[in-house]
Amino acid sequence: MKKGTDKMLKAINITKKFGALAAVDDLSFEVKEGQVFGIAGPNGAGKSTLYNLITGFYKYEGKIEFDGQNITGLPTHKIARLGISRTFQIPQVFESLTVEESVNLGGRFGSSGKFDSGYCDEMISFASLEKERGNKTDLLNLLGKKRLMIAAAMATKPKILMVDEPMAGLNVLEIKQMTNLIKKINQDLNVTVIIIEHFMKVLTELANPILVIENGREICIGTPEEITSNPEVIACYLGDTHDA
Ligand SMILES: Nc1ncnc2c1ncn2[C@@H]1O[C@H](COP(=O)(O)OP(=O)(O)OP(=O)(O)O)[C@@H](O)[C@H]1O
Ligand SMILES: [Mg+2]
Repeated sequence: MKKGTDKMLKAINITKKFGALAAVDDLSFEVKEGQVFGIAGPNGAGKSTLYNLITGFYKYEGKIEFDGQNITGLPTHKIARLGISRTFQIPQVFESLTVEESVNLGGRFGSSGKFDSGYCDEMISFASLEKERGNKTDLLNLLGKKRLMIAAAMATKPKILMVDEPMAGLNVLEIKQMTNLIKKINQDLNVTVIIIEHFMKVLTELANPILVIENGREICIGTPEEITSNPEVIACYLGDTHDA
């Protein structure tokens, strides 16, 4: 992080069209160092597409800056090396690898440019995966796979960790465990976090500010209190999921 810049990530008028559909439509926002920045919005709002733009999966209109540097158009591996790491909405693990091998693989794409096996070990413990260390990843349950994606992403030593619906499919106890893991990443490891999440109770506990989008456009951005009392947000999104 360059001294004096607290804007870690800045999106300026970004748009991504798939044919006639603008999945992300003229969106601008800033994520500051140390934040847990929340993103909410109905199904198909463009949340995961936004992650795909930030991490360089697709070309787009507009500009994204990271740590004061223009990262627009950079390939995915270069963006990862600069310090942006992510997990996927549908868990993606290498089934032929063990937990340890998977985390080490993340470590080889690290932002420091050097493989640090000690740090990879720490991330296995941090994500509560010690017992599964030598197991093939296909033996993990859903929570285990989600923990593994996070451990492998963290093994890259990111400045920003972006998680996409980490609570989806988890039971109440598992949601608490995942919430604590994300809090610890932010507070104990000092990593800025961006989280897409449908469970508003979890999102409002973890994140501030929260950006709500619909049809690729911003509906509002603000504190959890501002978001949950915003009439447009209630109309488009919270109506039936507020108590989820
Ligand atoms: N590769 C693609 N090609 C064509 N259309 C796409 C592509 N990826 C996403 N879309 C469309 O873009 C819109 C936004 O999709 P996106 O997956 O970003 O939504 P989302 O907010 O993550 O939704 P969900 O909450 O269901 O995960 C949807 O209409 C989707 O069908
Ligand atoms: Mg999505």
